[in-house]
Amino acid sequence: MAHRLKDKVALITGAGMGMGRECAVLFAEEGARVVVADIDAKVAAETVAAVEAKGGQAIAVAGDVALEPDVERMVAEGVKKFGALHILHNNAGVLWKDRDRSVLETDEKWWDRVMGINLKSVFWVTKHGIPHLKRAGGGSVILMGSVSALAGFTRAQDAYTAAKGALISLTKSLAIQFARDNIRCNVIHPGIVDTPLQAPYLTPEIRTEFERGIPLGRIARPREIANVALFLASDESSFMTGAELVVDGGFTAG
Ligand SMILES: NC(=O)c1ccc[n+]([C@@H]2O[C@H](COP(=O)([O-])OP(=O)(O)OC[C@H]3O[C@@H](n4cnc5c(N)ncnc54)[C@H](O)[C@@H]3O)[C@@H](O)[C@H]2O)c1
Repeated sequence: MAHRLKDKVALITGAGMGMGRECAVLFAEEGARVVVADIDAKVAAETVAAVEAKGGQAIAVAGDVALEPDVERMVAEGVKKFGALHILHNNAGVLWKDRDRSVLETDEKWWDRVMGINLKSVFWVTKHGIPHLKRAGGGSVILMGSVSALAGFTRAQDAYTAAKGALISLTKSLAIQFARDNIRCNVIHPGIVDTPLQAPYLTPEIRTEFERGIPLGRIARPREIANVALFLASDESSFMTGAELVVDGGFTAG
């Protein structure tokens, strides 16, 4: 067990699968106790089992990050179990290419739902989580943006893109507001990552098309994004706040 997050408690939303699960296991390996928040209680429990299998500590808290009462309860359950909170990793997000398309083709219901999960969730997690970070003497808030926020795509997902773009502004606002409380806030912009979120869309043809556009020639593994989240969660990034980290294999540099 390494110690880059020794004595820290991390709440990770959407930690039941994909990059969230990867972060839960990695953060625990580095000494954090992890609050695994997910809408799906079964996958959250599986993540806890994966953490415990490596000798770490975690608790599963089930709820919808778009809903304030759920987030308030999940934060409270985590604090009750582990006594404090130091890291808020706002990882949960949805990409629904069938329902979230161009503004010309998207129903209000799906626009609002994507905004609720991908953007409003951060409002609730920070509203209820930051007071605990203040109490702990500081902490790290991580937001999950996307390269979608940095470039338009011909296959539009306008609600997803708008939500991810808004996270950039929110990152800066939170960074400025809470800097004197020793609370840092940064956003990660992953490119395409091999997770259950992408699985329905990654046909062999689409995968090849994506890989052709990525200078490093492949899509990312979840651990490659989790490593960046670990850096932001740890004191190694102690002078970083309000920053955007693009982790896209060179996609947006091309
Ligand atoms: N995979 C990619 O290519 C990619 C690229 C850029 C950004 N991202 C972002 O990274 C984050 C993680 O993505 P991933 O690919 O690991 O996703 P994933 O779909 O593999 O896992 C997401 C997790 O979030 C949970 N979740 C969904 N809705 C929720 C809700 N309302 N309340 C609580 N939990 C909920 C799911 O149950 C799941 O466990 C997301 O914010 C996503 O937008 C992903």
